[in-house]
Amino acid sequence: MTLGILKETDGENRVSITPDAVAALLKLGIEKILVERDAGAYAFFDNASYESQGAHVADRETVLQQSQIITSIHPLDAQTAGKLSTGQVIIGQMNPMAQQSIVEVLLKTGATAFSLDMAPRTTRAQALDVLSSMATVGGYKAVLTAANHLPTFFPMFMTAAGTIKPAKVLILGAGVAGLQAIATAKRLGAVVEAFDVRAAAKEEVLSLGAKFVEVAGATDDKAAGGYAVEQSDEFKQRQAQLIHDHAIASDVVICTAQIPGRKAPLLLRTATVNAMKNGAVVVDMAASSGGNCEPTENGKTIRTANGVCIIGDSNLAGTAPKDASVMFGKNIVNFLKLIFIKGVFTLNFEDDIVAGTCIAHEGQVVSERMKSVMATS
Ligand code: NAI
Repeated sequence: MTLGILKETDGENRVSITPDAVAALLKLGIEKILVERDAGAYAFFDNASYESQGAHVADRETVLQQSQIITSIHPLDAQTAGKLSTGQVIIGQMNPMAQQSIVEVLLKTGATAFSLDMAPRTTRAQALDVLSSMATVGGYKAVLTAANHLPTFFPMFMTAAGTIKPAKVLILGAGVAGLQAIATAKRLGAVVEAFDVRAAAKEEVLSLGAKFVEVAGATDDKAAGGYAVEQSDEFKQRQAQLIHDHAIASDVVICTAQIPGRKAPLLLRTATVNAMKNGAVVVDMAASSGGNCEPTENGKTIRTANGVCIIGDSNLAGTAPKDASVMFGKNIVNFLKLIFIKGVFTLNFEDDIVAGTCIAHEGQVVSERMKSVMATS
């Protein structure tokens, strides 16, 4: 069986599999590995580093035609995906709940597609959880990006030229990205507070030494598998006031709040941004799903009339492409261990991870979560 690694398009710096993962894949029983020329170039892995691990460099058409298994972080464009055929397997992070059109294209081809961002939030699935891996990188880089744009220091300084107060950082959403942002901001010496609707987040925020901003009465649905759910209008109003009060006292706001398959919750209103400090920085990691901050423009850095810098970037993982690619590649290797059993390619849809991530197989959707999203749209 041949596995092909595609070069990402649209300015993505990461690559789905790095040279060290090539060696692990050959050990699993994959006979041949093709890598599209320069696939790892922007993540600082050259063609020779893949070849030294046993991969073969090829052009894009050859990779697409000769590989039974194809890996790519982002979904293929519709034209390329449309050329796949039954028996071919594509693995990546396709965000299919928000991009159903790609699922429809894949269903027509008969190919099998695994989107690792659909993995269940279970202990066993952690090793292949690309959302967690990329959120870890993103949360870290969000704070560094904010620090770079902030006209003041993060830590407190006591110098002969006077005392500098530490930066105040507010983190909205204390999931994987938010917790990593808290840890990074604390390491840089900031005073950190965080807010989340899930009750379980409180203990995690406190354990990192940050203050938890609490709005009573949040809907916390255990059936949502660790994810947040939509909140009542009354809750949203109280929440907006509390976030307003804390945001206007902050130097940095990091927005990470998401609800899978839905528009991101709007937490930082224009009126709040207009009342924030001159020079304050907002990093909105939810930008691609609508943003937590009302004035956010996805993919852009803007400055408001009152001097607030708003960075709308949901792909901060791409700004640390080397380690992000290593983590992504390890997640794929761990997933392939579930479908390469004793060196034999085996699709076991009794396995909740294999079934949960499978968004297309021989013209059918396998993932129950995906089926219900498609049925209601
Ligand atoms: P996410 O990226 O979907 O959302 C980020 C955060 O935003 C979450 O903590 C969520 O509660 C929060 N949020 C959503 N709506 C909000 C609102 N209106 N106001 C404030 N905050 C809001 O979530 P993520 O980071 O991917 O994971 C969420 C949780 O899932 C984790 O904290 C963890 O408990 C669990 N998890 C479990 C894993 C496993 O067992 N394999 C792996 C990763 C996460």
